[in-house]
Amino acid sequence: MSYNHSNITSYKDNTPFINADECYEFAVKRAGDYFNSLLHQVTYKEYIPILVNEFKSWKKGHMCHFALTGYISKHIRPDPKDYNRYIQWLKYSGRLENYLDRSISYIFMRDLGKDLSSPDTHQRIRRVVERLKNYLIRYTGSDHKSNSQILDLSSLYRKAQEEHIESTMIWLMDKLKEVSAHLPEGMDAEQAERKLVKIIAGVLMHEFEGINDSTPTKIRMQKLDVAIRLGYSYGLTYPFIDDILDANVLSPEEKSRYSNLIRTSLLNGSVPELGIWPEKNRKLVSYMHSELREAFLYIKSHQSQEHLKSFFEQAYVFFNSQEIDRIKELSNSTYTNEDLYIPIILKSSSSRLIARSVSDADEDRGFDERTFYYGIYNQLADDFADMFDDMEESAVTPYTYWMKYRDERPDLINPFELYWTVISNLIHNVYNNDAKTSEVILDRAINGLKRCRERLGAYKYNELMSLLTSNISEFNDLVQELVMKADDVDFFDKLLRDHMLTSFKNERNQRNTFKDTIENIRHEINSFLNIAKSGSNSLLSQTVVDAANYSIEAAGKRLRPLIAWIIARDIYRLEPKTLFPLFRSIEYMHSASLIYDDLPSQDNADTRRGRKTLHNLYDLATAELTGLYLTQKAIEEQTYLNDFSAEAILRIVRYSCCVTQDMCKGQLMDLQSKGKNLTLEELDTICFYKTGIAFEASLVMPAILAGARDCEIEALKRFARFAGITFQIKDDLLDAEGDASLLGKPTGKDILNSNSTFVTALGLEEARKEMWNHFCNAMESLNTLPHNITFLKHLLLYIINRDH
Ligand code: IPE
Ligand code: IPE
Ligand code: MG
Ligand code: MG
Ligand code: MG
Repeated sequence: MSYNHSNITSYKDNTPFINADECYEFAVKRAGDYFNSLLHQVTYKEYIPILVNEFKSWKKGHMCHFALTGYISKHIRPDPKDYNRYIQWLKYSGRLENYLDRSISYIFMRDLGKDLSSPDTHQRIRRVVERLKNYLIRYTGSDHKSNSQILDLSSLYRKAQEEHIESTMIWLMDKLKEVSAHLPEGMDAEQAERKLVKIIAGVLMHEFEGINDSTPTKIRMQKLDVAIRLGYSYGLTYPFIDDILDANVLSPEEKSRYSNLIRTSLLNGSVPELGIWPEKNRKLVSYMHSELREAFLYIKSHQSQEHLKSFFEQAYVFFNSQEIDRIKELSNSTYTNEDLYIPIILKSSSSRLIARSVSDADEDRGFDERTFYYGIYNQLADDFADMFDDMEESAVTPYTYWMKYRDERPDLINPFELYWTVISNLIHNVYNNDAKTSEVILDRAINGLKRCRERLGAYKYNELMSLLTSNISEFNDLVQELVMKADDVDFFDKLLRDHMLTSFKNERNQRNTFKDTIENIRHEINSFLNIAKSGSNSLLSQTVVDAANYSIEAAGKRLRPLIAWIIARDIYRLEPKTLFPLFRSIEYMHSASLIYDDLPSQDNADTRRGRKTLHNLYDLATAELTGLYLTQKAIEEQTYLNDFSAEAILRIVRYSCCVTQDMCKGQLMDLQSKGKNLTLEELDTICFYKTGIAFEASLVMPAILAGARDCEIEALKRFARFAGITFQIKDDLLDAEGDASLLGKPTGKDILNSNSTFVTALGLEEARKEMWNHFCNAMESLNTLPHNITFLKHLLLYIINRDH
């Protein structure tokens, strides 16, 4: 294959920002020199004596000497899939420190291009290990129910609060949510999300390298803000350039057009117009295009001129080598070793070099060299792990190609031998025999094989190994002995990777279950809300029932009865059928409160639930009387809770009457606060009384009927308070920036009425922070509930993410 790409010239209608041919040729030359040196070492098997020697001393720290220790560690060690318990086990068996040390050292070497022999690096690693250790101990203790704390939105937000970068975090959460919503079916959503998060974390890590305890808070905030936005901007290129071109979502024509668009963007330093795109993928492509465009602009505006050029050059090398790699076909038997290895040396190193050049942390000496030589190590390790998947997809990697053509093409390098050669070259030549480097790389190598053995099973693994090592069997015997017996070679980033994938998958499943659940239950609730007309003679009484039904049958979300349903069914094991009167009662109370709220004397709104408000359709008197009718109807319903004791029903009646009284107080406080400057505390109080209290009722009424203990009711109330306020702040935000057609009620009312809401009092940005703060409070209060909390967790997520 040739690396000539004269077709690029056709895009040079704008003045090119970089000289594509020149920078790619230069990179190819450099990769070629590196490759030749590796070729020499692999041909003469120079790596074997070097590695045998290294393994000899490595072995000492990794073999269990006592049969008993071996027994214990084998039998008590929890499955790493059980993230929290695994970390706890590491802690109690005294392994956590070393575990984190080798993991962080490895990441410093791989992602930051650090030289592990430098005392400064050593010190930094110590600091990170210490911080991480404390964090993990704090968040994996036995009192933590959630198995996904590290990815938990509320703990992330709390971290952002500590760093005073709440707005940035909110921005990021919203962006990630959008990305996730746009990922098409043909793409692995969890992998895409994981990669994006990983890139952002990587850029943040680079940035943390450039700041220390003496950095002023303001500068620190700014740097972290920029790093997060840059990380996102750069990270987007993984799902929206790399993965999308790999996936079978776009047609071949679309792919070629899309990839030309990216190429032009890199050459000119700006993303051109998209033009008209075929209908099928238009929405997706327009979204990717506009996000990438924004990302390009952001990256450009945050870099110095010299960084910028090198960024685009690296990005071009990355993109072009990917493209060259991508178009290879497994059926083509004529690729040379250079065809196979040069693009992967380039893509693997340039991706890391870009990550560095997006951040402006100072570069340390030798970074570029180390990173350049390091890339292929990772690539070969990944290709090894993915060999069978790649084979199935007929993707060309050094492994799949060698597997297919090894008999007819004795000139092909065995990729597994090249892998060991790269390792030996790194230890011996690039890192000058540094003991720590050797330790960490060998840990990683043995761990990779162990993981492969676990994945494939012993039989398939041995078969694969004998295939790959037929002419280095002696060396392989040594390696396999280590794979079987060596311990303490696992890594935190791998644990985190697995944990992230499972958590993302779980989250997605739970989210879908939540959606289905609320849809189904809402459907059922809708079927029994209608109020039957009683008697036959009185025309007047029919009007009020009609008016009540008009309000009720409109498209309400039914959140309050829904919550009551789930709490009753899932926590208190009550049969929902026995509670239909309660659900009616709750929704009637709520509908009445809306009728009053919309009156001209209150918020004066013309639409509600997608139709005219009651006073607007009928008249004031009808609206007022229907409100009163519904509050009374709500109490009547409670008396039909025939499966419960009279005492329980009395408690419900008493409690709900108090709730209605409190709501009246809240509504009046709200109206009286028009135009006033309220404190946060006052805002909280008003929201609690006008809105939170109805949420409280939905949680507490089933608990009362079930005879729950007071402390449990208190815990529910605590959660409800925070959740209710979160709900109201989101309502205030939607009033300011929502879409009236989705909401089914007018927007902009709060400003028009001079209402004192979180948004009118604090502004959008601060209101968002308050919403997140209450969201976190609610999330944290879930830990005090003795029940399964998945539904409530998703309810909170729904509350902050809803658009109506
Ligand atoms: C609106 O409540 C009143 C507030 C407390 C903000 P909802 O948003 O739950 O209204 P519906 O029942 O879905 O119409
Ligand atoms: C309503 O608050 C509180 C009630 C319980 C009625 P809002 O006045 O903000 O509710 P919307 O926006 O009109 O639904
Ligand atoms: Mg109001
Ligand atoms: Mg209102
Ligand atoms: Mg409102």
